[in-house]
Amino acid sequence: MRLKDKVAIVTGSGRGIGEGIVMRFAEEGAKIIVNDVNEADALAVVEKIRAKGGQAVAVLGSVSDREVVQKMVDTAVAQFGTLDIIVNNAGITRDVMLHKMTDDQWKAVIDVNLTGVYYGIQCAGRVMREKKYGKIVNISSTSALGNAGQLNYSASKAGVIGMTKTAAKELGPKNVNVNAIAPGMIWTDMLKGMPPDVLQQMDMMLPFIVPLNRKGSPQDIANLALFLASDESSFITGQIIFCDGGMKM
Ligand SMILES: NC(=O)c1ccc[n+]([C@@H]2O[C@H](COP(=O)([O-])OP(=O)(O)OC[C@H]3O[C@@H](n4cnc5c(N)ncnc54)[C@H](O)[C@@H]3O)[C@@H](O)[C@H]2O)c1
Repeated sequence: MRLKDKVAIVTGSGRGIGEGIVMRFAEEGAKIIVNDVNEADALAVVEKIRAKGGQAVAVLGSVSDREVVQKMVDTAVAQFGTLDIIVNNAGITRDVMLHKMTDDQWKAVIDVNLTGVYYGIQCAGRVMREKKYGKIVNISSTSALGNAGQLNYSASKAGVIGMTKTAAKELGPKNVNVNAIAPGMIWTDMLKGMPPDVLQQMDMMLPFIVPLNRKGSPQDIANLALFLASDESSFITGQIIFCDGGMKM
């Protein structure tokens, strides 16, 4: 087991990529804090982990609320005795062209995707630097490199890259690894929620823009998150790994 007895928080793990990550981590022996704004989804994932013999607890609420994020860390320590891993995965989109973007659309995305990751790194990082061990995995996106209709989202995901590198420099001397994954097109509700004409166009373009000629699955991201959360990657920090079928290279 690659994460035996490790304690991991995964934000936004009620469905999609986050759910894929917690199920993979639990299979490898980790004890899990499942977080989501959607109570039913979070509780269902906790039940799924327990049904397979794993250990999990839910902490509900938004990563944009510092108290919620602190509660995840406190719950990990209270329930499982420590914290080893955090995956800052929760994220949202409010896609619209720049000339039509409202301040609410800007702020909603920045609050969750950028401030939420800041809270996660800071609250978990305080425990990890004390114990001189930790793995922080942030979920960025290929959109960090720019994507029409996603100015707010790409700004937040590029910000995650900057935070990852700075936190890696600050926490490296404390034996805490900080890396980011930049997923490409991953077949989850986030992608499925795009307008049908955009999805159709995406499918037509797939062979030309994705060398591996398929969309990714949550398992593709979970396998990389597992590597970055395990000691197999102990000499890797401050890196942004694109998991996108070769879309950006
Ligand atoms: N799907 C893709 O193609 C893709 C590509 C690149 C990056 N990503 C990133 O991967 C991460 C996961 O995306 P996904 O595709 O699984 O999305 P998703 O919408 O399927 O799932 C996101 C989960 O996060 C939860 N969530 C939303 N806001 C939250 C908040 N404020 N606090 C806590 N939980 C919250 C949702 O309820 C949901 O369960 C996101 O950061 C996303 O930006 C996804």
